[in-house]
Amino acid sequence: MTRRETESTSAAPGGPGGPGGPGGEPAFVLACTLKDVPEDGAIGVEIEGTPVAIVRTSDGIYALRDVCSHAEVPLSEGEVYDHTLECWLHGSCFDVRSGQPTGPPATEPVPTYPVKTEGDDVYVALR
Ligand code: FES
Repeated sequence: MTRRETESTSAAPGGPGGPGGPGGEPAFVLACTLKDVPEDGAIGVEIEGTPVAIVRTSDGIYALRDVCSHAEVPLSEGEVYDHTLECWLHGSCFDVRSGQPTGPPATEPVPTYPVKTEGDDVYVALR
């Protein structure tokens, strides 16, 4: 008789494709399609009530909270160049890879989120 692993207790309830699990895996959620995101540009989406800027640079797609840490306007309406997202209101610059401010007046970072693409779909994990 061979010994098997102990029974799984994960018991996924078979819901409507609920993202991720409680086991620490990021819960990726469909955010948009690649076609939605302009080259060297950004769009704003809302995921589970959180505003998220989806940014396309020459080397890929990044996601960060779509709220400037300086005065709470949508960063997705700013300009994208290199790995920088520049806020349209007062010109703060953020590195889209880290969310860190790279130009004043903002001094606080904005949260960034993991991104993955599957085919034309862009998925973001808020947690
Ligand atoms: S609101 Fe973004 S720099 Fe002031």
